[in-house]
Amino acid sequence: MKKVKIAVLVSGGGTNLQALIDAQKSGIITSGEIALVISNKKDAYALERAKAAKIDTATVLRKECADSSEFESRIISLIDGAGCELIVLAGFMSILSEGFTSYYRDRIINVHPSLIPSFCGQGFYGLRVHEAALAYGVKVSGATVHFVNEIPDGGKIIMQKAVEVKDGDTPETLQKRIMEEAEWRILPLSCEQVCKNILENK
Ligand code: GAR
Repeated sequence: MKKVKIAVLVSGGGTNLQALIDAQKSGIITSGEIALVISNKKDAYALERAKAAKIDTATVLRKECADSSEFESRIISLIDGAGCELIVLAGFMSILSEGFTSYYRDRIINVHPSLIPSFCGQGFYGLRVHEAALAYGVKVSGATVHFVNEIPDGGKIIMQKAVEVKDGDTPETLQKRIMEEAEWRILPLSCEQVCKNILENK
């Protein structure tokens, strides 16, 4: 069966990448296959996870590029060179320009660790999202997978899952619960759904 080639963009630990790799192995993802993992940090542990799963990796460092346009065109060359049709942002901590997002319209998805439109947009990433949720005092948070457009965290929502905030939570305990109960589940499911749609609309 033909599969959609997926490029996963990462910056850190790569637990969401691991969830995608595991979902591919367990048959939750059947319409796509991860063909390439690109990191913008050279020591990202996500790269080790990709190598362990025998997936091609590449690193593009912003500081080694003259400007953000060169940074993005290098990423585009890698994605297009590998024939990838879907891009998954899995903890990729760099905002992509409108030029990039419009070039891949409806072909980039992102996982965000809150229920959008809460605690999202510029400046809300990683632990900061959970710090903001706890400071506000919400009793429910969660995760969202959405398409990426020119507005940070502003594209069409694909899936969301709510997670309870517990008394005594720290940003770290809330982050862990949201990853386990929401992100690692809805990212693979969304990925399969989008790949299936791409195949059906060919
Ligand atoms: C995840 O919680 C992801 O939702 C978040 O960063 C973490 C990456 O962890 N992404 C954002 O905040 C994007 N705005 P991982 O590297 O272990 O997958």
